[in-house]
Amino acid sequence: MTNHASHKPIKKAVFPVAGLGTRFLPATKAIPKEMLPVIDRPLIQYAVDEAREAGIEQLIFVTGRGKTAIVEHFDMAFELETTMKDREKALDVLEPTRIQPGNLVTVRQQVPLGLGHAIWCARAIVGDEPFAIFLPDELMIANKGSTGCMKQMVEAYNEVGGNLISVLEVPEEEVSSYGVIAPGASQGALTEVKGLVEKPRREDAPSNLIISGRYILQPEVMRVLENQGKGAGGEVQLTDAMAQMIGHQPFHAVTFAGRRYDCGSKTGFVEATLAIALEREDMADEVRAMARRLLGEG
Ligand code: G1P
Repeated sequence: MTNHASHKPIKKAVFPVAGLGTRFLPATKAIPKEMLPVIDRPLIQYAVDEAREAGIEQLIFVTGRGKTAIVEHFDMAFELETTMKDREKALDVLEPTRIQPGNLVTVRQQVPLGLGHAIWCARAIVGDEPFAIFLPDELMIANKGSTGCMKQMVEAYNEVGGNLISVLEVPEEEVSSYGVIAPGASQGALTEVKGLVEKPRREDAPSNLIISGRYILQPEVMRVLENQGKGAGGEVQLTDAMAQMIGHQPFHAVTFAGRRYDCGSKTGFVEATLAIALEREDMADEVRAMARRLLGEG
């Protein structure tokens, strides 16, 4: 694919991580939800790995009180590394936590006014560049031999430019928990976005294609967010701001060729843990035998 000269590269990503994680209490009383591990990597690490695979360099965390463990995780742990070196333990396990100096930035969202507000809090760091957004609750896993969700989106962006969101189909009874698109023409994995609505009633939903937590947006969205009133749930919604950009800039949805686990729910978290364990060569056989035993099949 050619990188169209007029499409500025995506080098920055915003990770809204200020949420209180009330659904996972008491586990999240003293630990950010994003630090809960799926096997041996905290949830946030999967999103950061996906970002780096897509060529993103600068990570912007929109944090809040009690979230410092996330920043610590991506810092260098001097004592730990020295001790590990002394004991001749390999340090490559820490490689994914290393960020180029200066490439991790945090801003605070002081008051939880909604996703749109969280993104707007990053406006000075994003500046006048297109940028990516990752909602870390949505765990996007590439199929074997394929690339991650954001990399697929960046490839599509290099073709069409403008704004892109990842979408997937859900059963109709689930649409009211999500942002939903009104789809236009499709070509391969790309679908034109004609409209967007946040958490519609089932009967009002324009489709069953939902926004699945990955975005590439043009910086103009920040100016729209500046004046964005409250929407669904009394919150400043990113979806409402994006909806206003349709017709002014290209807007496409990308259907991710891969799997998505909703780690915002407890069962989704268990599903992600099992699915990833069953794929890992170091664990798969043991976990499969264990699952059979638990299900009374072996
Ligand atoms: C947010 C977005 C929604 C999107 C969802 C994906 O909703 O507002 O459009 O479909 O994430 O997880 P939230 O889950 O924060 O209510």
